[in-house]
Amino acid sequence: MHPETSKIQYTLREATEDDKKTLTAMELDAVALFKTIPGLADLGENHASPEQLSVWLSSGRIYIAEDNAKPVGFVAAVTMDTTLYIANISTTQEYQGKGVGTNLIAAVFEWARDLAAATGSKPRVSLTTYREILWNAPYYRKRGFREVEAETLGPKHVEKMMYDRGERNLIRPGYTRCCMLWEGE
Ligand SMILES: CC(C)(COP(=O)(O)OP(=O)(O)OC[C@H]1O[C@@H](n2cnc3c(N)ncnc32)[C@H](O)[C@@H]1OP(=O)(O)O)[C@@H](O)C(=O)NCCC(=O)NCCS
Repeated sequence: MHPETSKIQYTLREATEDDKKTLTAMELDAVALFKTIPGLADLGENHASPEQLSVWLSSGRIYIAEDNAKPVGFVAAVTMDTTLYIANISTTQEYQGKGVGTNLIAAVFEWARDLAAATGSKPRVSLTTYREILWNAPYYRKRGFREVEAETLGPKHVEKMMYDRGERNLIRPGYTRCCMLWEGE
């Protein structure tokens, strides 16, 4: 780790409708990483629609990470079945590998802890991702997530896996999808 980058202190804030253009620009910059994988290169052009962003903003939360007021990444999470589901996480290329994603995930864990405290349950965070891509499942595993069957999380997770397989055509030769879960104390 470079001594300078390790010192970056990110500010996190909740996004609003006014941030939608910024969110789209950040996501497009982040997903360009997929262009390095021949079988998934088209995903490097994918981004959430403005309507989808509005759904996440109204039914969940989007946290934006900033470095000196410069937006460098975001995470969108919504409650789904009995977990807090990370619907999207993106770090701009310039800031990848500098702790932004780790900070954003920590913010979702914190929100999950608050929700759990209010209901007397365990904090739970879930997501769906690629098994084989280094910055996907292996990245989340290092952050305390483990692979689980979608069925154990509930019908909405099953539906999401089916949507990714069908309509979104995310399953490709050599690349499979999985559901992951983090459970706190
Ligand atoms: C997934 C994604 C959000 C991760 O974000 P990130 O900000 O790069 O993640 P981090 O910087 O927290 O961690 C990445 C690595 O950098 C390391 N790192 C953390 N701080 C660092 C620093 N200051 N300097 C150098 N490296 C650092 C971390 O240790 C981590 O490595 P590890 O997994 O071996 O522990 C990012 O890769 C991305 O936007 N990808 C494209 C979109 C995508 O795939 N989204 C997820 C779909 S499920």
